[in-house]
Amino acid sequence: MNENKSSEKSGFSSKIGFILAAAGSAVGLGNIWRFPYLAAKYGGGLFLIIYLIFTVTFGFTLMLTETAIGRKTGKSVIGAYKSINKRFAPLGWLAALVPAIILPYYCVIGGWVLKYLTVFVTGNGTAATGDGSFFSSFIGNAGQPTLFFLIYVALTAAVVMLGVQKGIEKVSKLMMPLLVVLTVGIAIYTLTLDGAMDGLKYYILPDFDGMTVSKLLKTIAAAVGQLFYSMSLAMGIMITYGSYMRKEDSLEQSVRHIEVFDTAIAFLAGLIIVPSVFVFSNGDPDALKAGPSLMFITLPNVFDSMAGGQIIGTVFFVLVALAALTSSISLMETVVSIICEKFKIKRIPCCLIVIALCVAIGMLSVLGYSVWDTVTIFGYQLLDFFDFISNNIMMPIVAFLTCVLISYVVGTKYIEDEVTLSQKRFKSKTLFNVMIKYVCPICMIIILVTPFVTKI
Ligand code: PHE
Repeated sequence: MNENKSSEKSGFSSKIGFILAAAGSAVGLGNIWRFPYLAAKYGGGLFLIIYLIFTVTFGFTLMLTETAIGRKTGKSVIGAYKSINKRFAPLGWLAALVPAIILPYYCVIGGWVLKYLTVFVTGNGTAATGDGSFFSSFIGNAGQPTLFFLIYVALTAAVVMLGVQKGIEKVSKLMMPLLVVLTVGIAIYTLTLDGAMDGLKYYILPDFDGMTVSKLLKTIAAAVGQLFYSMSLAMGIMITYGSYMRKEDSLEQSVRHIEVFDTAIAFLAGLIIVPSVFVFSNGDPDALKAGPSLMFITLPNVFDSMAGGQIIGTVFFVLVALAALTSSISLMETVVSIICEKFKIKRIPCCLIVIALCVAIGMLSVLGYSVWDTVTIFGYQLLDFFDFISNNIMMPIVAFLTCVLISYVVGTKYIEDEVTLSQKRFKSKTLFNVMIKYVCPICMIIILVTPFVTKI
């Protein structure tokens, strides 16, 4: 067992730097379009309560586990699992594959966000309104999506190349406070719109109408699935960031802060999206459809109908771009750290290798929506397929096996020892033990089988 921090690694210089970088990873596209849609779909307040309960129990446990593994081993995800237990080395490889699959298509979507940002910044928001033909013709011709994808990759890579302290930490300290200010600002504005209060009620009051056991189970599965993705779990990100964390900073407290950050931004995004779409659609909840159509078709129409909509639209896409960038930075850093460690090469050449891979694989997603739009795998277009296998299959498997490794192979004391390095008492120890041994593995199995049993 090798538990020494590798000496050539530079880490975060402060606790707040770590918290903001990890929160930057957590806060992303999932918070902004997926969370509000799910909350609206699954009974408003009820979904919010269930989500909150799972965040402070399930999410907390998995995030603490990964961060502690990272800090204890001081390694990237492959090295970390191997150093805990040789037999679990393949788990490290599986976990490493997840960010490698997600990064390219996340950058493709990031490129779409940049495109919309430029449309609104140049005062052309109205061009993006209508029935969606603007969006379909944009993604249907490979040229522009490729250009914006490349710009987005370049922005992400520029930060990662600068390193942990000078790049990731600095940028997170700048971007995350800005993101909070912008989110709060637009949330206040949308709540002042005529009719917004009905949307607000729809969003936060629990709706028990027609509630059945099966509906409740689906709500729980949706909440757990969302939480998992939203907190960037089971893909080595928190292991990588944990390995850059200082030994003297409290793990428990840091994870709690990240949780609050992630949930608060998701909740605020709901305050922006649900009431404004509600006003626009005269109270039709169907207008809150998931997927790209909400962000790239419905919202431009919503903004266009508001007074000052060009400005609100611009600010909104700036905030989405910030949220997406800090997430893709964490994905790229995770892949870079794996390659640096595995092949013992320096950061810049590693970054160049990762950029080349990211561009090559990302082009499959770009082309999958344009010239290759007839190509499908199990009925999914290429981008959706990458999304499906990483989120619905690989991540739950990684999380499940991590729980098994910690609970039944090395023992929970492994994590406890790391937690108590920087604080006297592990306050949530009982909660942690129950969650990691029983609740988390069961939840993972539920997530894994749900898509096959029912279509949520
Ligand atoms: N947590 C991010 C979100 O909520 C998604 C993400 C997944 C980010 C994987 C990085 C890696 O959108």
